[in-house]
Amino acid sequence: MPLLGFGVYQIDRSDCTEACLRAISAGYRHLDTAQLYQNEEEVGAALLQCGLPREEIFVTTKIRYPRLGKGKTYLRALQSVQKIDPRENGYVDLFLIHNPYVLKPKDRKEMWLALEKLHEEGKAKAIGVSSYKPEHLEEMREYATIWPPAVNQILLHPWTQQRETVDYCNEHGIALQAFSPLARGKKLEDTTVADIAQRLARSPAQVLIRYCLQKGWAPLPKSVNEERIKQNADVFDFDISEGDMTLLEGLDSGKGPSFDWISKGNMPSVTTWLLGVAGL
Ligand code: A2P
Repeated sequence: MPLLGFGVYQIDRSDCTEACLRAISAGYRHLDTAQLYQNEEEVGAALLQCGLPREEIFVTTKIRYPRLGKGKTYLRALQSVQKIDPRENGYVDLFLIHNPYVLKPKDRKEMWLALEKLHEEGKAKAIGVSSYKPEHLEEMREYATIWPPAVNQILLHPWTQQRETVDYCNEHGIALQAFSPLARGKKLEDTTVADIAQRLARSPAQVLIRYCLQKGWAPLPKSVNEERIKQNADVFDFDISEGDMTLLEGLDSGKGPSFDWISKGNMPSVTTWLLGVAGL
Protein backbone atom coordinates (compact mmCIF):
# COMPACT_ATOMS: atom_id res chain seq x y z
CA MET A 1 0.00 0.00 0.00
CA PRO A 2 1.54 3.34 -0.98
CA LEU A 3 1.69 5.28 2.27
CA LEU A 4 0.37 8.60 1.01
CA GLY A 5 -3.25 8.43 -0.15
CA PHE A 6 -5.64 10.93 -1.69
CA GLY A 7 -8.97 11.19 0.15
CA VAL A 8 -12.04 12.05 -1.95
CA TYR A 9 -14.48 12.55 0.94
CA GLN A 10 -16.86 15.44 0.12
CA ILE A 11 -15.41 15.95 -3.34
CA ASP A 12 -18.39 16.49 -5.64
CA ARG A 13 -18.97 13.93 -8.32
CA SER A 14 -18.43 16.65 -10.92
CA ASP A 15 -14.93 17.46 -9.59
CA CYS A 16 -13.82 14.03 -8.51
CA THR A 17 -12.32 12.55 -11.69
CA GLU A 18 -10.37 15.73 -12.34
CA ALA A 19 -9.14 15.90 -8.72
CA CYS A 20 -7.99 12.25 -8.87
CA LEU A 21 -6.19 12.87 -12.16
CA ARG A 22 -4.43 15.87 -10.64
CA ALA A 23 -3.47 13.78 -7.65
CA ILE A 24 -2.09 11.00 -9.83
CA SER A 25 -0.07 13.56 -11.85
CA ALA A 26 1.26 14.95 -8.57
CA GLY A 27 2.53 11.46 -7.67
CA TYR A 28 -0.23 9.93 -5.52
CA ARG A 29 -0.70 6.22 -6.18
CA HIS A 30 -3.39 5.59 -3.60
CA LEU A 31 -7.02 6.81 -3.78
CA ASP A 32 -9.50 6.53 -0.93
CA THR A 33 -13.23 6.53 -1.67
CA ALA A 34 -16.38 4.99 -0.13
CA GLN A 35 -19.93 4.05 -1.06
CA LEU A 36 -20.97 6.92 1.20
CA TYR A 37 -19.07 9.52 -0.87
CA GLN A 38 -21.04 8.62 -4.00
CA ASN A 39 -18.05 9.14 -6.26
CA GLU A 40 -16.77 5.61 -6.83
CA GLU A 41 -17.59 5.76 -10.55
CA GLU A 42 -15.66 9.00 -10.90
CA VAL A 43 -12.64 7.44 -9.18
CA GLY A 44 -13.00 4.55 -11.65
CA ALA A 45 -13.03 7.03 -14.55
CA ALA A 46 -9.76 8.50 -13.31
CA LEU A 47 -8.22 5.00 -13.23
CA LEU A 48 -9.18 4.55 -16.87
CA GLN A 49 -8.05 8.00 -17.97
CA CYS A 50 -4.77 8.30 -16.09
CA GLY A 51 -2.83 6.20 -18.56
CA LEU A 52 -1.15 4.08 -15.89
CA PRO A 53 -1.58 0.32 -15.53
CA ARG A 54 -4.34 -0.56 -13.04
CA GLU A 55 -1.80 -2.28 -10.73
CA GLU A 56 0.01 1.00 -10.15
CA ILE A 57 -2.89 2.65 -8.35
CA PHE A 58 -4.08 1.39 -4.99
CA VAL A 59 -7.81 2.01 -4.45
CA THR A 60 -9.74 1.71 -1.22
CA THR A 61 -13.50 1.83 -0.80
CA LYS A 62 -15.88 1.17 2.11
CA ILE A 63 -19.24 -0.44 2.79
CA ARG A 64 -21.88 2.11 3.54
CA TYR A 65 -25.11 0.24 3.99
CA PRO A 66 -25.56 -1.52 7.31
CA ARG A 67 -28.04 -4.22 8.21
CA LEU A 68 -28.48 -5.68 4.75
CA GLY A 69 -27.31 -9.12 5.75
CA LYS A 70 -24.37 -10.92 4.21
CA GLY A 71 -25.90 -11.57 0.75
CA LYS A 72 -27.06 -8.03 -0.04
CA THR A 73 -23.98 -6.46 1.48
CA TYR A 74 -21.89 -8.67 -0.77
CA LEU A 75 -23.90 -7.59 -3.84
CA ARG A 76 -23.56 -3.91 -2.96
CA ALA A 77 -19.84 -4.39 -2.47
CA LEU A 78 -19.59 -6.12 -5.83
CA GLN A 79 -21.36 -3.14 -7.42
CA SER A 80 -18.70 -0.87 -5.92
CA VAL A 81 -15.96 -3.00 -7.46
CA GLN A 82 -17.72 -2.78 -10.83
CA LYS A 83 -18.01 1.00 -10.55
CA ILE A 84 -14.34 1.39 -9.70
CA ASP A 85 -12.90 -1.21 -12.04
CA PRO A 86 -15.46 -2.41 -14.60
CA ARG A 87 -13.08 -4.86 -16.31
CA GLU A 88 -13.99 -8.53 -16.18
CA ASN A 89 -11.23 -9.17 -13.67
CA GLY A 90 -11.75 -5.84 -11.95
CA TYR A 91 -10.86 -5.48 -8.28
CA VAL A 92 -10.32 -3.00 -5.50
CA ASP A 93 -7.12 -3.12 -3.49
CA LEU A 94 -8.78 -2.65 -0.14
CA PHE A 95 -12.41 -2.86 0.99
CA LEU A 96 -13.28 -1.61 4.47
CA ILE A 97 -16.31 -1.65 6.75
CA HIS A 98 -16.98 2.07 7.02
CA ASN A 99 -18.01 2.30 10.64
CA PRO A 100 -18.89 -0.05 13.49
CA TYR A 101 -21.28 2.28 15.27
CA VAL A 102 -25.05 1.99 15.69
CA LEU A 103 -24.72 -1.62 14.61
CA LYS A 104 -25.32 -4.83 16.47
CA PRO A 105 -22.50 -7.39 16.61
CA LYS A 106 -24.55 -9.50 14.18
CA ASP A 107 -24.53 -6.66 11.60
CA ARG A 108 -20.79 -6.20 11.89
CA LYS A 109 -20.31 -9.94 11.54
CA GLU A 110 -22.43 -10.17 8.37
CA MET A 111 -20.60 -7.25 6.78
CA TRP A 112 -17.26 -8.87 7.52
CA LEU A 113 -18.36 -12.24 6.15
CA ALA A 114 -19.50 -10.47 2.95
CA LEU A 115 -16.06 -8.89 2.64
CA GLU A 116 -14.35 -12.22 3.25
CA LYS A 117 -16.34 -13.67 0.32
CA LEU A 118 -15.31 -10.75 -1.90
CA HIS A 119 -11.69 -11.32 -0.88
CA GLU A 120 -11.86 -15.06 -1.60
CA GLU A 121 -13.08 -14.24 -5.11
CA GLY A 122 -10.17 -11.88 -5.70
CA LYS A 123 -12.47 -8.85 -5.98
CA ALA A 124 -10.91 -7.23 -2.93
CA LYS A 125 -7.18 -7.84 -2.63
CA ALA A 126 -7.30 -6.96 1.05
CA ILE A 127 -10.08 -6.27 3.54
CA GLY A 128 -10.19 -4.19 6.66
CA VAL A 129 -12.21 -1.89 8.88
CA SER A 130 -12.58 1.77 9.73
CA SER A 131 -13.14 3.54 13.04
CA TYR A 132 -12.89 0.23 14.89
CA LYS A 133 -11.93 0.29 18.56
CA PRO A 134 -10.05 -2.56 20.24
CA GLU A 135 -13.36 -4.00 21.49
CA HIS A 136 -14.70 -4.23 17.93
CA LEU A 137 -11.46 -5.85 16.77
CA GLU A 138 -11.59 -8.35 19.63
CA GLU A 139 -15.23 -9.14 18.85
CA MET A 140 -14.21 -10.05 15.27
CA ARG A 141 -12.01 -12.87 16.49
CA GLU A 142 -15.15 -14.85 17.31
CA TYR A 143 -16.42 -15.05 13.74
CA ALA A 144 -13.66 -13.96 11.38
CA THR A 145 -11.86 -16.45 9.20
CA ILE A 146 -9.59 -13.64 8.13
CA TRP A 147 -8.11 -11.94 11.17
CA PRO A 148 -6.56 -9.52 11.80
CA PRO A 149 -8.06 -7.12 9.27
CA ALA A 150 -5.33 -5.70 7.02
CA VAL A 151 -6.11 -2.09 7.93
CA ASN A 152 -7.95 0.05 10.44
CA GLN A 153 -8.65 3.50 9.02
CA ILE A 154 -9.26 5.95 11.86
CA LEU A 155 -9.31 9.66 12.60
CA LEU A 156 -5.69 10.50 13.39
CA HIS A 157 -3.91 13.79 13.77
CA PRO A 158 -1.91 15.36 16.62
CA TRP A 159 -5.06 16.41 18.50
CA THR A 160 -6.77 13.00 18.19
CA GLN A 161 -4.16 10.30 18.58
CA GLN A 162 -6.39 7.44 19.77
CA ARG A 163 -3.46 5.84 21.57
CA GLU A 164 -5.31 2.79 22.84
CA THR A 165 -6.46 1.88 19.33
CA VAL A 166 -3.08 2.69 17.80
CA ASP A 167 -1.25 0.51 20.34
CA TYR A 168 -3.67 -2.35 19.77
CA CYS A 169 -3.23 -2.15 15.99
CA ASN A 170 0.56 -1.95 16.25
CA GLU A 171 0.61 -4.94 18.55
CA HIS A 172 -1.51 -7.05 16.17
CA GLY A 173 0.06 -5.96 12.87
CA ILE A 174 -2.97 -4.00 11.65
CA ALA A 175 -1.86 -1.14 9.36
CA LEU A 176 -3.22 2.28 10.29
CA GLN A 177 -4.60 4.74 7.80
CA ALA A 178 -5.22 8.30 9.02
CA PHE A 179 -8.34 10.00 7.77
CA SER A 180 -8.61 13.78 8.14
CA PRO A 181 -4.87 14.07 8.90
CA LEU A 182 -5.21 17.85 8.51
CA ALA A 183 -7.98 17.97 11.14
CA ARG A 184 -10.23 19.09 8.28
CA GLY A 185 -8.06 22.19 7.83
CA LYS A 186 -9.18 23.59 11.20
CA LYS A 187 -5.84 23.49 13.03
CA LEU A 188 -3.46 24.81 10.42
CA GLU A 189 -2.90 27.98 12.41
CA ASP A 190 -1.98 26.20 15.61
CA THR A 191 1.18 27.86 16.92
CA THR A 192 3.11 24.64 17.66
CA VAL A 193 2.53 23.42 14.12
CA ALA A 194 3.17 26.85 12.61
CA ASP A 195 6.51 27.16 14.48
CA ILE A 196 7.68 23.75 13.30
CA ALA A 197 6.57 24.57 9.76
CA GLN A 198 8.51 27.81 9.85
CA ARG A 199 11.65 26.09 11.10
CA LEU A 200 11.42 23.53 8.31
CA ALA A 201 10.36 26.08 5.66
CA ARG A 202 7.30 23.93 4.96
CA SER A 203 3.55 24.53 5.26
CA PRO A 204 1.58 23.46 8.35
CA ALA A 205 -0.30 20.94 6.17
CA GLN A 206 2.99 19.37 5.08
CA VAL A 207 4.07 19.10 8.71
CA LEU A 208 0.84 17.31 9.66
CA ILE A 209 1.14 14.89 6.75
CA ARG A 210 4.81 14.23 7.49
CA TYR A 211 3.92 13.65 11.13
CA CYS A 212 1.62 10.77 10.10
CA LEU A 213 4.27 9.27 7.83
CA GLN A 214 6.86 9.31 10.61
CA LYS A 215 4.35 7.69 12.99
CA GLY A 216 3.89 4.90 10.41
CA TRP A 217 0.31 5.91 9.59
CA ALA A 218 -0.87 6.23 5.99
CA PRO A 219 -2.29 9.76 5.72
CA LEU A 220 -5.25 10.45 3.40
CA PRO A 221 -5.36 14.24 3.01
CA LYS A 222 -8.19 15.66 0.94
CA SER A 223 -8.03 18.71 -1.31
CA VAL A 224 -9.71 19.91 -4.47
CA ASN A 225 -7.11 22.59 -5.11
CA GLU A 226 -4.33 21.79 -7.59
CA GLU A 227 -1.59 23.62 -5.69
CA ARG A 228 -2.57 22.09 -2.35
CA ILE A 229 -2.83 18.60 -3.88
CA LYS A 230 0.77 19.00 -5.08
CA GLN A 231 1.97 20.55 -1.85
CA ASN A 232 0.48 17.69 0.20
CA ALA A 233 2.42 15.15 -1.86
CA ASP A 234 5.70 16.99 -1.46
CA VAL A 235 6.52 15.48 1.91
CA PHE A 236 9.27 12.96 1.25
CA ASP A 237 12.38 15.11 1.35
CA PHE A 238 12.39 16.39 4.91
CA ASP A 239 12.21 15.03 8.45
CA ILE A 240 10.54 16.31 11.58
CA SER A 241 13.10 16.05 14.38
CA GLU A 242 12.49 13.81 17.37
CA GLY A 243 12.02 16.89 19.55
CA ASP A 244 9.37 18.32 17.25
CA MET A 245 7.64 14.94 16.99
CA THR A 246 7.41 15.00 20.79
CA LEU A 247 5.92 18.51 20.68
CA LEU A 248 3.28 17.34 18.19
CA GLU A 249 2.54 14.25 20.28
CA GLY A 250 1.95 16.58 23.20
CA LEU A 251 -1.01 18.20 21.43
CA ASP A 252 -3.22 15.14 21.94
CA SER A 253 -6.56 16.04 23.50
CA GLY A 254 -6.90 12.45 24.71
CA LYS A 255 -10.41 12.45 23.29
CA GLY A 256 -11.66 10.11 20.61
CA PRO A 257 -13.52 11.27 17.53
CA SER A 258 -16.72 13.18 18.26
CA PHE A 259 -18.88 10.30 16.97
CA ASP A 260 -17.58 8.06 19.78
CA TRP A 261 -20.37 9.10 22.07
CA ILE A 262 -22.92 7.59 19.69
CA SER A 263 -21.55 4.17 20.52
CA LYS A 264 -21.95 4.78 24.23
CA GLY A 265 -25.73 4.63 23.97
CA ASN A 266 -26.26 8.39 24.13
CA MET A 267 -28.40 8.65 21.03
CA PRO A 268 -32.16 8.82 21.00
CA SER A 269 -33.42 5.77 19.13
CA VAL A 270 -34.89 7.62 16.11
CA THR A 271 -31.62 9.47 15.52
CA THR A 272 -29.74 6.21 15.88
CA TRP A 273 -31.97 4.63 13.30
CA LEU A 274 -31.55 7.57 10.89
CA LEU A 275 -27.78 7.46 11.24
CA GLY A 276 -27.90 3.75 10.54
CA VAL A 277 -29.96 4.30 7.39
CA ALA A 278 -27.50 6.99 6.29
CA GLY A 279 -24.65 4.57 6.91
CA LEU A 280 -22.95 6.79 9.45
P1 A2P B 1 -9.29 22.31 -0.06
O1 A2P B 1 -10.01 21.08 -0.55
O2 A2P B 1 -9.95 23.58 -0.48
O3 A2P B 1 -7.82 22.29 -0.34
P2 A2P B 1 -8.59 16.66 5.89
O4 A2P B 1 -7.76 15.97 4.84
O5 A2P B 1 -8.02 16.62 7.26
O6 A2P B 1 -10.03 16.17 5.90
O7 A2P B 1 -8.63 18.21 5.53
C1 A2P B 1 -9.22 18.66 4.35
C2 A2P B 1 -9.39 20.16 4.42
O8 A2P B 1 -8.11 20.81 4.46
C3 A2P B 1 -10.11 20.72 3.23
O9 A2P B 1 -10.93 21.76 3.68
C4 A2P B 1 -8.99 21.23 2.35
O10 A2P B 1 -9.45 22.31 1.57
C5 A2P B 1 -7.96 21.69 3.36
N1 A2P B 1 -6.59 21.54 2.85
C6 A2P B 1 -6.07 20.48 2.21
N2 A2P B 1 -4.75 20.67 1.95
C7 A2P B 1 -4.44 21.88 2.42
C8 A2P B 1 -3.23 22.66 2.45
N3 A2P B 1 -2.10 22.19 1.93
N4 A2P B 1 -3.28 23.89 3.01
C9 A2P B 1 -4.42 24.38 3.54
N5 A2P B 1 -5.59 23.70 3.56
C10 A2P B 1 -5.61 22.46 3.01
